Amino acid sequence: MKDLISVKLIPDKEAGEIFALTGRLKKNPRAYNKALAGKTLALIFQKPSNRTRVSFEVGMYQLGGHTIYLGPEEINLGVREAIKDVARTLSRYVDGIVLRTFAHKNVLEMAAFSQIPVINGLSDYSHPCQALADLYTVKERFGRLKGIRLAYVGDGNNVCNSLIYACVKLGLNIRVASPAGYEPDAQVVREARALAFAKGSEFGISHDPFKAVSGADVVYTDVWASMGQEKEAKIRARAFRDFQINARLMKKAGGRALVMHCLPAHRGQEITDEVLDGARAIVFDQAENRMHVQKAVLIRLLGRRA
Ligand code: CP
Ligand code: NVA
Repeated sequence: MKDLISVKLIPDKEAGEIFALTGRLKKNPRAYNKALAGKTLALIFQKPSNRTRVSFEVGMYQLGGHTIYLGPEEINLGVREAIKDVARTLSRYVDGIVLRTFAHKNVLEMAAFSQIPVINGLSDYSHPCQALADLYTVKERFGRLKGIRLAYVGDGNNVCNSLIYACVKLGLNIRVASPAGYEPDAQVVREARALAFAKGSEFGISHDPFKAVSGADVVYTDVWASMGQEKEAKIRARAFRDFQINARLMKKAGGRALVMHCLPAHRGQEITDEVLDGARAIVFDQAENRMHVQKAVLIRLLGRRA
């Protein structure tokens, strides 16, 4: 694996190795404080970020490496300079690139023209670092992944697409409930159905949040309007009205279900304060695990290049 572009492209064995290394890194971070000494990671971000930027910057620092943050004004990707020229130039300076962008094809182009690993730090289509950290968090909580029932309620967006692949590949059962017209990507749904069948996991999509959460171990949601969709916020708020994670929906899930959210959360929209601040929410464990999992990914991708 040269790059981390989407969960779909992660070999099953690699996911297991990433999680195993994450466990070791989390337990004994000092043992790895020179793992990436002398290495530099460029962070090209075309959208805002708290978790992704900070966890990569701190993670790289803890591994003995260095980061350079290149915000929207800096590189002006595809406008000031073609993506392939950015890729080829940065390949001469740094050891890896994290790209947060709009169109997923930007990540593919960056990876195709880079001689160094490219990590997708979120595109409109997927958010693989998030899904990996999320499933690591589930594993930490339940001690296993196989057979865990995850319900995703809300927009069939980047986070949802990545979670679907991660769940069906790693043996979790996933049910998605979204309003009509806001389902996950059609190709993701097709491929996930086939993968779930092959792996013996369950995958279902519907427009019924109550049905989706019934009997779930984990209830997951994300914002109704993602970065770049701000103009649609009002229309979306109407369409998603019945897809809020609140006490009534959680009651249907049963007393033991945990609540996950990739954050940032729009409190009072996709999730109530009561649920997000409640004892069943594990959102800050997810946020913390972003850093541990990404450190493992960085070692796997950048570490073996001499
Ligand atoms: N979950 C996540 O990616 O958060 P940021 O947008 O703050 O990086
Ligand atoms: N779906 C959200 C995720 C943010 C981490 C977005 O793309 O804005």
